[in-house]
Amino acid sequence: MQKRKKITLGLLLLAATWLWPQNQAVAEHHEKTQLERGAYLTTILGCHDCHTPKLMQPGPPQPDMSRALSGHPEGAPYPTWMPADLMEGHTLVKVNPTFTAFAGPWGVSFAINLTPDKTGLGEWTEEAFVQALRTGKHQGQPNGRPILPPMPWEVYKAITDDDLKAMWAYLQTMKPIANKVPTPVPPAGPPPGAE
Ligand code: HEC
Repeated sequence: MQKRKKITLGLLLLAATWLWPQNQAVAEHHEKTQLERGAYLTTILGCHDCHTPKLMQPGPPQPDMSRALSGHPEGAPYPTWMPADLMEGHTLVKVNPTFTAFAGPWGVSFAINLTPDKTGLGEWTEEAFVQALRTGKHQGQPNGRPILPPMPWEVYKAITDDDLKAMWAYLQTMKPIANKVPTPVPPAGPPPGAE
């Protein structure tokens, strides 16, 4: 009897030592695939299009990956919105050369810094990130101001929780870049259609 107990205990210990690294490997594999998926989604969903400053050069502007996802460069000039643009130039939106500042009937919006620096998403929570993209409210707060165009949150609200969390996890592993993006500028003129 005593011997059988010892054998059982031995077998349990053996199983535990065998399973422990297995579980760890599974967790590490999950983490790796989650980060890979986050990188893939961040690329194919076009986050760089607006959140990575562009380099002006001959040919189409290219994303400056040394400043990947760091948002509108601090201090860079940005376009203003003039109500007359809508009437005269058949123009709704003006965009600055780094393609990070957008002037339209909503005023001027600036693509934010998505890197984990404190000037970016460093002090955000996963929950705030998920809720912002899901609800279109600033920082996902129920009473937050609406997130301004052209941030396409209405498209992104259909992304699954797992995919949003994968993007969040990936963004947290990016190189933190200190870049304080301005807060949006309210419209300079009356809203379109107003007297
Ligand atoms: C077409 C341009 C564009 C694209 C594409 C885009 N963004 Fe944005 N994003 C913006 C702009 C502009 C703002 C600032 C909006 C504001 O100040 O209300 C913004 C704001 C945000 C915010 C902050 C929202 C808040 O709570 O104030 C997050 C988070 C964000 N974007 C994440 C992403 C992610 C992740 C992707 C890719 C899946 C992405 N964006 C793609 C333009 C874009």
